[in-house]
Amino acid sequence: KTVTYDFSVTWTKGNPDGQYERKVIGINGQWPIPQIDVDLGDRLVINFHNGLPDQDSSLHFHGLFQNGTTFMDGPAMVSQCPVPPGMNITYDFIVDQPGTYWYHSHVKGQYPDGIRGAFIVHDPQGPYKNSYDAEIILTLSDWYHEQMPVLAKRFISYLNPTGAEPVPQSALMNDSQNITLAVKPGKTYMVRMVNMAAFAAQYVWFEEHTMKVIEIDGIYTEPMDADMLYLTAAQRVSVLITTKNDTSKNYAFMGSMDQDLFDKVPDGLNPNVTGWLSYNSNAPLPAALPVPEFKPLDDMLLIPYSRIPLLPPADLTVTLNVTMSNLGDGANYAFFNGLTYVRPQVPTLFTALSVGDAATNPLVYGRDTVPHILPHMQIIDIVVNNQDPGKHPFHLHGHVFQTIFRSSDDAGNFEGHLESEYPKVPMIRDTILAPPGGHVVLRFRADNPGVWLFHCHLEWHLLSGLVTTFIEAPMELQRNTTIPENHRALCVKRGILMEGN
Ligand code: C2O
Repeated sequence: KTVTYDFSVTWTKGNPDGQYERKVIGINGQWPIPQIDVDLGDRLVINFHNGLPDQDSSLHFHGLFQNGTTFMDGPAMVSQCPVPPGMNITYDFIVDQPGTYWYHSHVKGQYPDGIRGAFIVHDPQGPYKNSYDAEIILTLSDWYHEQMPVLAKRFISYLNPTGAEPVPQSALMNDSQNITLAVKPGKTYMVRMVNMAAFAAQYVWFEEHTMKVIEIDGIYTEPMDADMLYLTAAQRVSVLITTKNDTSKNYAFMGSMDQDLFDKVPDGLNPNVTGWLSYNSNAPLPAALPVPEFKPLDDMLLIPYSRIPLLPPADLTVTLNVTMSNLGDGANYAFFNGLTYVRPQVPTLFTALSVGDAATNPLVYGRDTVPHILPHMQIIDIVVNNQDPGKHPFHLHGHVFQTIFRSSDDAGNFEGHLESEYPKVPMIRDTILAPPGGHVVLRFRADNPGVWLFHCHLEWHLLSGLVTTFIEAPMELQRNTTIPENHRALCVKRGILMEGN
């Protein structure tokens, strides 16, 4: 079937932490923005209108491969021109992956001002479909009282030479600081968690209820029990929670921002958000929980339900060394191999489609896009050497990857590894935490021609340039891609493309 949404983004008001009302970007005058719900195999059509008078916009569907539809991916100046005020774009594609996703603006640092919501692909044939009675969506996020353009300007500035990221005022669950989930006794719930934060990872745990992980980032896993989870910005984890038979009592659950991410923890910051599993509306709600002893589940232990084996050894290894330092303007930037990403003048996809055979030459994309060419169907290893003392959640568009190795903190650069020592059935996801001072090795097959970003999903580091562009199978892409007219029109309007060209 076809599912259609008409979305107009506009300014509205919000006060999710109950402390401060501010302007937020909503959809159709509503904030929090609507959840997108589709069934596996549906065609999704979103008629998107930018009703903001003062900002460009776009939508990205985080975690969807967009196989054959790379121009529907959404990042501004990568696969489309941003939508200027008053203009429209139609996103139109088949959703052929089940699970828990989210959607967000992919223009500068826009989404933390409000354009981020859950995107659920229901799967009537899923392996766990008979294992639960109902679904609950639990979004996690962080919240700033100031607007992103203001914060961004202060962040990228000679007045902030260390690159200290703005610290959010509050942690949120379901865009609130006060959430009650009504549950029935003796039932099993599938709780889909999505961290839509700009910055903060969250620890999540439930009072006296064990979580059984069954999905991460749209990948079903073998069930695994967890007392606590850790979700970086952009990660999703679905769990089964079975309720107690006794309804005399209610239980708390907690989200707690990882304060290791913050350069300086402001006085009086409350890093926590408390929610309640409500069995009995007459019983009291318990107090916030203390931070427990237990450790969060290590996602490297999770085994995909599909049991897809380790891919063959890489044909091509892309090594990305992460550093941070100042440029001539005195502001702090982030670098992959000494290059900080700058948005090109023409969307990279349009370049890939218009330069003929030169599309396999990284130089045509401009070095500030930090381009890497991935030959069609080759096995790619991405080695991220995180030479920075901070944690970074890296996300690859257009793919999931096998995480075949992750070092401990401060382990230094990757120096090779025996194939036989990689897990036989590696964990798979689309956003991975790179340890401070250590490294991760990610493996995937270049089976999705397109232009795909790989970036740190801390919105601050997207702004400071921790972004690289993968140009995957450009010749195959040229053979099979026609950009829709209304996408081209955005670039014509901006004077980037000529009419009829
Ligand atoms: Cu959530 Cu570049 O994406």
